[in-house]
Amino acid sequence: MLATVRAATSRRSFLIGAGLFTTGILSTASANDSKPARQFTLTAAKGRAPLVGNAHPATDVWCYDGGIPGPLIRARQGEPIRIVVENRLGEGTTVHWHGIRLPIAMDGVTGISQPPIAPSQRFTYEFTPPDAGTFWYHPHADSLQQLGRGMAGALIVEEPEPVAVDRDVLWVLTDWRLTEDAQIASGFGNGMDAAMSGRVGNTVTVNGVVSDEEPVRAGERIRLRLVNSSLARIMALRFEGHRPLIVAIDGQPCDPHEPAGGRLLLGPAMRADIALDMLGEPGRRYRVVDDFYEGLVYWLTKLAYDDKPPLRAHSLDPPLTLPRNPVPEPDLATAQRHELHLEGGMMGGGAMMGMGGMSGTSHAVWAINGSSMTGDGQAGMAPLLTLQLGRSYVLTLRNDTAWWHPMHLHGHSFRVLSRNGQPVPYRQWADTVLVPPKEEVEIAFVADNPGDWMLHCHVTDHQVSGMMVILRIA
Ligand code: C2O
Ligand code: CU
Repeated sequence: MLATVRAATSRRSFLIGAGLFTTGILSTASANDSKPARQFTLTAAKGRAPLVGNAHPATDVWCYDGGIPGPLIRARQGEPIRIVVENRLGEGTTVHWHGIRLPIAMDGVTGISQPPIAPSQRFTYEFTPPDAGTFWYHPHADSLQQLGRGMAGALIVEEPEPVAVDRDVLWVLTDWRLTEDAQIASGFGNGMDAAMSGRVGNTVTVNGVVSDEEPVRAGERIRLRLVNSSLARIMALRFEGHRPLIVAIDGQPCDPHEPAGGRLLLGPAMRADIALDMLGEPGRRYRVVDDFYEGLVYWLTKLAYDDKPPLRAHSLDPPLTLPRNPVPEPDLATAQRHELHLEGGMMGGGAMMGMGGMSGTSHAVWAINGSSMTGDGQAGMAPLLTLQLGRSYVLTLRNDTAWWHPMHLHGHSFRVLSRNGQPVPYRQWADTVLVPPKEEVEIAFVADNPGDWMLHCHVTDHQVSGMMVILRIA
């Protein structure tokens, strides 16, 4: 296996303001919307990408529009978009718009919200994002391979009024398990990965390349949008010499705050927008370190200051705050409560935890309240819970396992209320919440979006081997 390799050639950062890397926008009038839909096309196909730089062979990948990550899709809050997806992959696929509160028919889940898009067929997704923020897209079909071989991209929904920063920068962070010749290692879905941490790899890219440094200027304030598009790797990022402020989580603005202990935790599928004031010295380099896994600490990249004098003499004051999105506030007084137990996997001493009463397939190694939907979604499996449309709910996610689980609910953003009984500060909303081993997290939301919505772990190995259920809202 390749160790985390760093090529000195990679300095690609996504400057969103410049409109780079977006797909072509052509406006077309759509029947009932007052604004014309922004139109995009995405082609899913195999390709080659120089993930680890020119000293190594390019990697055979599966991707969108020939690139890793897929093209940045920029939408505007409250304005319709239409994305025509063409499948040239050689197997069925779908696209899930992770975190966008959209109608179920556009959710892109195989077997639940649509049949797979067959090879050489097209499907048109159309929706109007209600929330501004940082979102992403990925397949919900053959997920281990399709996501694990590179199919993912960012979807940014812009605020109506521009946000006051000097630069808006996107880092899509992706973990890969590569062989010595920089090819994607086989063994997707093996039992070890499935029952333990999932397929954690050995190489992490920033916007599709191993990054040696990312250029910055002294004195500038950037909005850095982080997307963890990994199959399984959890990250804990420290910005040496800097004080990042979290201003949004999973696209939803929160009260600005520094991450606990200076470590920004980002599980698979999670996003964070951080405000970074570049208070370092011109000409210096500062490492961004990921120290989540003991013994696997590495540096992701370096913030590389150019030699120019600081952009401004004094740091900006006050902190960046983002306008709130129109997410309905749950009514905690009348909310109905449910407990969901995350179960299964390998426990200490190498024993598998037993799971009685499972209704899924025999390959399941994980369950939620004894129920395991495996794969990418199965039609015909009964929902774990049926929620009443318009009612508020509090779900307690109790992790009875020895592993971390980033739990994702489709079609909604939820308030993160408490962890182990302690209230969570800074008004945090999310669509994917990281639940540490043996801990519990309370989330709350208004069940305002009718449909069969998935609730699953976003460690893809865990998802496809049973840590997934349907919540029906009707
Ligand atoms: Cu990122 Cu089921 O989704
Ligand atoms: Cu999990």
